[in-house]
Amino acid sequence: MEHALLNKKKDLEAYGYKKFGLMTLPVPSLEADLRELAEEFDHLPRDTYSPESHRYRKYSRAIINPWDGALQWLPDFIDEDGEAKSLYFQGTFNAEYLEEYRAFPALSEKIKENALLQEIIKYDFNETFWNPYEKILPIHVGVHFVKYMVEDETQESVASPNTIHQDGEPFTFVHLITYKNVHGGRSTVAHPSCAGLNREQANEKLILDEFDLTEPLDSYGVCDKKVSHYVSGIKKGPESRPAERGVLLIDYTPLTIAIT
Ligand SMILES: [Fe+2]
Repeated sequence: MEHALLNKKKDLEAYGYKKFGLMTLPVPSLEADLRELAEEFDHLPRDTYSPESHRYRKYSRAIINPWDGALQWLPDFIDEDGEAKSLYFQGTFNAEYLEEYRAFPALSEKIKENALLQEIIKYDFNETFWNPYEKILPIHVGVHFVKYMVEDETQESVASPNTIHQDGEPFTFVHLITYKNVHGGRSTVAHPSCAGLNREQANEKLILDEFDLTEPLDSYGVCDKKVSHYVSGIKKGPESRPAERGVLLIDYTPLTIAIT
């Protein structure tokens, strides 16, 4: 029995994705920390790489040790305007930004100390799996705060890329933080062969799951090589206030070249 438990595959290995909630994480300051995270979304700068997409974002990088779970933020760099930035590179996986680094404004030092954020990063890491070569070096963690927001009925805020896709990072997790007057924002998990297609083009038999994250810390994670994924654009719902969907996106990448 013990042997069977030890060999039990994690959900991301068995199914390629997992949906879960994190409001029961054992963080004493959870409510206050969640408020602090939500406030960070109130002040996110516009994504200057794609102003027409109505996205706002910050990004920082960390490493986590597979052997002891220790988490450490990596330094940001200071750009010519004196602003702290982090570099983000998706290789050839995002056709909208081929072989191009994007430099995003970094998370504040205060938010990097947020206990809930750190516990979420550690929780997600525990849902990932690695080969023996990958486990003897730190794992790179990319932490994105992304807000999709539109203020009038004619606008739509979309993700990048705005098709079913794979990210290039081996694991990515999505955690809902803010959700106001949203129409759309539906998450789709699909067979890898759907990557590159618009949602309407995909064969329904290859759609594995489709759901809305609506409550704080509603979450899901994907194993990138096992599934593709997509989130639909958001528009304004029935209320007069702007539509806003704020998510933490956390990705995990080994520092080794994968040997399979
Ligand atoms: Fe993605």
